[in-house]
Amino acid sequence: MTTADTDLAIETAGLVKTFGKTRAVDGINLAVPAGAVYGLLGPNGAGKTTAVRVLATLLRPDGGEARVFGYDVVRQADEVRSRVSLTGQYASVDEDLTGLENLLLLGRLVGHRKRAARTRADELLAAFGLTDAADRQVKKYSGGMRRRLDIAASILNTPDLLFLDEPTTGLDPRSRSQVWDIVRAVVAYGTTVLLTTQYLDEADRLASRIAVIDHGTVIAEGTPGALKSSIGAGTVHVRLRDPLQRDEASALLGRALDAQVLQESDPVALTVRVAGSERGAAEHASRALADLAAAGIVVDDFSLGQPSLDEVFLALTSPQNQEGPTEKETVA
Ligand SMILES: Nc1ncnc2c1ncn2[C@@H]1O[C@H](COP(=O)(O)OP(=O)(O)OP(=O)(O)O)[C@@H](O)[C@H]1O
Ligand SMILES: [Mg+2]
Repeated sequence: MTTADTDLAIETAGLVKTFGKTRAVDGINLAVPAGAVYGLLGPNGAGKTTAVRVLATLLRPDGGEARVFGYDVVRQADEVRSRVSLTGQYASVDEDLTGLENLLLLGRLVGHRKRAARTRADELLAAFGLTDAADRQVKKYSGGMRRRLDIAASILNTPDLLFLDEPTTGLDPRSRSQVWDIVRAVVAYGTTVLLTTQYLDEADRLASRIAVIDHGTVIAEGTPGALKSSIGAGTVHVRLRDPLQRDEASALLGRALDAQVLQESDPVALTVRVAGSERGAAEHASRALADLAAAGIVVDDFSLGQPSLDEVFLALTSPQNQEGPTEKETVA
């Protein structure tokens, strides 16, 4: 790896962090371009928070290397620290203070003079829709308001790299989309964002590239589109009128689409992942629909969609994709 002259915000090679026998981060290789949102997607316990804490210099790695804007997170930790900011999975603002007081205090801590701290706090409260709540104690904020205040607190000084660790977990749809707008605004100001999430739609909406991590390793990496198309051309969802016809419909769809049919827990629902090109998938799907009608099977709902990232994740972590430790999906 090179010196500080790099277009990569983050570069890791074989990064390892263990806790006793747990290999929380187990050889992660990442190359995160500067200037965009990079998504780190994985289930509970995948190692997301641990990876972020190592990159933010809060934890010392046990193996491998990690650089932030070319600076080594161990040997040049001060250089790294001056360029990054972290919004943790759990809010870190002081509950007894008001929103404004929190931002003023933290603003002084990051080195703003009194007047500048006030200006920046007012700016951020306005940008994050918190002006009306500025003088209310944070313990009286809703979850969404707290999360927004937390992100505001982490960009008091515009950082070059912002770590957002599950910024929307537990938020309602409206608060989530407010946080998404904030993330987009932060990136528009030139900050690179490393976003961890368990929400596949969130990574899909915000990130220009995504690394899917599981058990401390990267199991797939690429653009959301490439990741999705590496899994297949599309997914057919069918809902039948009569659950008793499901086995027959399954067999018919399996033959028509030459693919495995998944019977969902809903007794009238069937899902088929279609391989090949998107156009071919559409043709096959319409023929399959005609076959169902010809067999007297009534279909209440039918859709052909791009595979969701949920399906991508299931496909990547399913047992048949775990044949050997060297099997790693790489997509452009
Ligand atoms: N301080 C710690 N001491 C011991 N084990 C830890 C510690 N922190 C994390 N772990 C373990 O490391 C693994 C990865 O945890 P981590 O918190 O990084 O996952 P995560 O992807 O952030 O999960 P979540 O989505 O639940 O936040 C887990 O098995 C966890 O129990
Ligand atoms: Mg976590």
